Amino acid sequence: MSSLEIKHLLGLQGVSANDIRIILDNAAEFRQVLDRKVKTLPPLRGVTVVNLFFENSTRTRISFELAEKRLSADIVNFTTSNSSVKKGETLLDTIKNIEAMKIDVIVVRHKGTGVPKFLAEHTDAVIINAGDGAHEHPTQALLDIFTMEQNLGNLKGKTVTIVGDIKHSRVARSNAWGLSALGANVRFCGPPTLLPRYTSMLPVEIFSDVRKAVEGADVVMPLRLQQERMEDSLLPSLREYRNFYGITRQTLEKAKDNVLIMHPGPINRGVELDSDIADGENSVILDQVTNGVAIRMSVLFLLSN
Ligand code: CP
Repeated sequence: MSSLEIKHLLGLQGVSANDIRIILDNAAEFRQVLDRKVKTLPPLRGVTVVNLFFENSTRTRISFELAEKRLSADIVNFTTSNSSVKKGETLLDTIKNIEAMKIDVIVVRHKGTGVPKFLAEHTDAVIINAGDGAHEHPTQALLDIFTMEQNLGNLKGKTVTIVGDIKHSRVARSNAWGLSALGANVRFCGPPTLLPRYTSMLPVEIFSDVRKAVEGADVVMPLRLQQERMEDSLLPSLREYRNFYGITRQTLEKAKDNVLIMHPGPINRGVELDSDIADGENSVILDQVTNGVAIRMSVLFLLSN
């Protein structure tokens, strides 16, 4: 087994293509295990993982918990609603107290950009970012890349179009770094109010016309409008957004015939993506969710060793 250069998974910016390859290759082996009747393996026996979710989650939280159980780790789940954070305890005090209970790995989701990095600097535990603000969501991008490779093979020269609320999307940013490291072309498309301010620093091409952005694309990934992160009114109306940026049969006319339709979830059907496309023959949205368990098994396994 090859080992990783990284000690924590804080984001995909700066992670080498070699490390990404090792995670994907290990995930491919774990993915086969998920199809077996007995899905549990012993490698994390004796390793204690704390899942710290300061923000809501369905897919990521359950997927990490399943991955940990599949690898026989001891698991503790933390949510803010029933913790002493509600009594005013600071993040650092919370973490120091959890660490004092002798834990090995922290999986963290937080609305604050940089919280995983802060934890990595202040604890001895391995830190895995499960989404920090609008910054990065590395395991989501890794499972997206895994699903793309499953369907398209080598991604070098392939075109991936990500459409919608890029400004607030940690998924878009992690995909941009991960996909570009593997040689794919990444296009971002959205209304100017929903694009990041410093796009020139990202390894992407920017489009405002969705039909041009999907032309010749191998993958189209619409994103949810993250109203919970929008401080101002950035859109005239949802109907207008759907008319200009919604992924529909008409929008996809110039994409490749076998274009893959992906979505990190949760989907707002009829806004960023029509139901007939979300549930259509080119959709791999539920495969992404299955593959997420294998990717998280791979990350947990490699970083715990
Ligand atoms: N894709 C994703 O992060 O979904 P959740 O918010 O449900 O975890």
